[in-house]
Amino acid sequence: MTDSVPTRIAVVGGTGPQGRGLGYRLARAGYDVVLGSRDAERATVAAEELSLLADGARITGTSNLAAADSADIVLLAVPYDGHAELVTSLAEAVTGKIVVSCVNPLGFDRFGPFGRTVPAGSAAEEAAGIVGSATVIGAFHHLAAPLLLDPEADLSHEDVLVCGDDITAKERVMALATDVTGGRAVDAGRLRLARQLEPLTAVLLSVNKRYKTRSGLAVTGLAPAIGKVPA
Ligand SMILES: NC(=O)c1ccc[n+]([C@@H]2O[C@H](COP(=O)([O-])OP(=O)(O)OC[C@H]3O[C@@H](n4cnc5c(N)ncnc54)[C@H](OP(=O)(O)O)[C@@H]3O)[C@@H](O)[C@H]2O)c1
Repeated sequence: MTDSVPTRIAVVGGTGPQGRGLGYRLARAGYDVVLGSRDAERATVAAEELSLLADGARITGTSNLAAADSADIVLLAVPYDGHAELVTSLAEAVTGKIVVSCVNPLGFDRFGPFGRTVPAGSAAEEAAGIVGSATVIGAFHHLAAPLLLDPEADLSHEDVLVCGDDITAKERVMALATDVTGGRAVDAGRLRLARQLEPLTAVLLSVNKRYKTRSGLAVTGLAPAIGKVPA
C-alpha cells in the first residue's frame, strides 16, 4: 500500500477467525484496521491481541456500526445466518462505500460441508440488494483463517478470486487482495459469480478433511502478476 494516509478498513464480525486473519494481514500491509463486533468490548480485546501479533500495527476495535461508519472500505466477515439483518443495520453507514464480502453460506451434515441455497443467489448479491447505495465486491472466500493468522505462512501462491460489477471498486479490492497474500488477485467476473465462488469453499473444506491439509485456490493459464481488470 502506497497511500500517505492509510485506507481505513472496517472488519465487520472482526472477532472471528476470518475477520481477525484478514485484519491482521491488512494491518501488517499498512492499512488502518478497525475490528467490529456486536459487542464493542469484545472487538477491543481482539484488536489488542491482534496488534501484538502485528508488531504494534494500528488495529482498533468497536461496534460493527461504529466501525463501518468510520471506514473507507467495509469488509463483511460474518456467518451467513443473521447476515441480512446485520447488513440492513449497516445500510446507512456503508452508503457510497465499497463493501467486500467473504461470506460463504455453507451447511454441514453427516456427509460433510455443502453450499446452501440463497434466495438472492449468493450472500454477496443479498448484501448488494440490501445496500444499493454501496458497491459490493466478493473476495477472500477461499483463504483459510488459520493461515491468515499464522505470521510465518506464505500465502503468495494463493489466488484471490474477486467478483463485482464495478470495475474501479473491483480493482481497489484486487489491490487489497494482493496486499493480503503477496500474490495474485484474479478478476473472476460479475458479482453474480459469487453464486459459484461461495459454495466452492465447501469443496475446499471437503478436500481439507480428506487430505488433512489447508487447501486453497490457484488458477492456471494466467500471467504471474495480475492486479488489474483486463481491458
Ligand atoms: N474461517 C475461515 O477459514 C473462512 C475462510 C473463508 C471465508 N470465511 C467466511 O467468513 C465469514 C466469517 O467466518 P468465521 O469463521 O470468522 O465465522 P465466525 O467465527 O462464526 O463468526 C465471525 C464473527 O461474526 C459474529 N457473528 C456471529 N454470529 C452473528 C450473527 N448472527 N450476527 C452478527 N454477527 C455474528 C461474531 O462476532 P461477535 O460475536 O463479536 O459479534 C463472530 O466472532 C463466514 O461467512 C465464513 O464462511 C471463513
